[in-house]
Amino acid sequence: MFLVTFFSTVVQTIYLFIWDFFLALINLLTFKRWRGHVTPRGTPGAGGKWPAYVAPRAGDSRSACPALNALANHGILPHDGKNIRFNELPGKVDAAFNTAPSVSMFVTNLAVAMLKKNYKRDSFDLADLDLHNGIEHDASLTREDTALVPNQSEPHLPFVKALLASASGRNRHGKALKRKDISIFSTKRRVDSRAANSAFSLDFFHKLIGSLNASFFLTILGGRVDDLQSILIEERIPEGWESRVRSRRGLTFTGSIFKVLRIEGGIDEKRYSAKLAAARPSA
Ligand SMILES: *[C@@H]1O[C@H](CO)[C@@H](O)[C@H](O)[C@H]1NC(C)=O
Ligand SMILES: *[C@@H]1O[C@H](CO)[C@@H](O)[C@H](O)[C@H]1NC(C)=O
Repeated sequence: MFLVTFFSTVVQTIYLFIWDFFLALINLLTFKRWRGHVTPRGTPGAGGKWPAYVAPRAGDSRSACPALNALANHGILPHDGKNIRFNELPGKVDAAFNTAPSVSMFVTNLAVAMLKKNYKRDSFDLADLDLHNGIEHDASLTREDTALVPNQSEPHLPFVKALLASASGRNRHGKALKRKDISIFSTKRRVDSRAANSAFSLDFFHKLIGSLNASFFLTILGGRVDDLQSILIEERIPEGWESRVRSRRGLTFTGSIFKVLRIEGGIDEKRYSAKLAAARPSA
C-alpha cells in the first residue's frame, strides 16, 4: 500500500512539472492579460471588487499562510476557516492570485499528503496546514517558530515591519521590496531562529518552500510595500487590487525557479554570523 501511494505521488509530481512547463511555454507565446482584467470575470475580485473584509473572530481557524487567511477574511474561503474542501482550493487560489493550476495543485497535493487525506472527498481547517515541517517550517518571514508560538494564525508584526522597512527599491507606487532585501532578511531570520529556538530545523526542501513563498512577494505582489503591508499585517486584499502577475496561464514553477534560486542563493548565514561576530565589541 505504501509503495503504491509513493509511486502514484512520484508520477503525479512528474506530471505536474511537465504540465507546468507547458503552461510556462503558453505564457511565453501569448499576450499578457490586460491590466484591470487579471482576475477572471465572474470570480471574486474581478474588476478590483473584492468581497468585504471581516477580521477573524475568536475561534476562527487561520494558518501560517497570509494568502489563504486573506481569502478567508474576505469570505472567498469560509470565513471561519473550517471545513474547506481540498478540491475547492486550487480554483479559488488561481482566480484570486493568478497562480498556474500546476502550482496550486502541487501545494494542495502536498497538504493532502501531509494530512493523509483524500483530495476529492476530504476537507480541512486552515490551522491543519500548520503541521510542523509539512509545509510550515522554522525561520518564517512572518511568523515566530512554532516551538516558541504554537498558534501560527497571527503574523508576528515585528518581523513583517522589519522586512518592509528593509525595502531598498522604489517604483512609481512608492517603496518596493527587492530580491536582495528578501535574501538579507531571510538570512537574519535563519540565524536568529537557530540561536533562539533549541528545536530549530530547516532542511533543503523547506528552505526552498520558504524562498518560493518569498518570491511571491516579488511576483504576485510586485514587491509593492503598500500592498504587502495590507496582505501581511491585516491579511487583507487591498481595495482594487489584482495580481501583478499577468501571464495568461498564471505564475508557474518554471517561471519562478530562477527567482527562487537567486533568493535562496543570496542567503548566507555563515557570512552574516561572521559579520555579527566582527561587529561585536570584544569583552
Ligand atoms: C489561535 O489564535 C487565534 C487568534 O488569537 C484564535 O482565534 C484561535 O482560536 C487560536 N487557535 C487555537 C487553536 O487556540
Ligand atoms: C512559507 O509559507 C509557509 C506556509 O504558509 C510558512 O509556514 C512559512 O513560514 C513560509 N516561509 C517563509 C520563509 O516565510
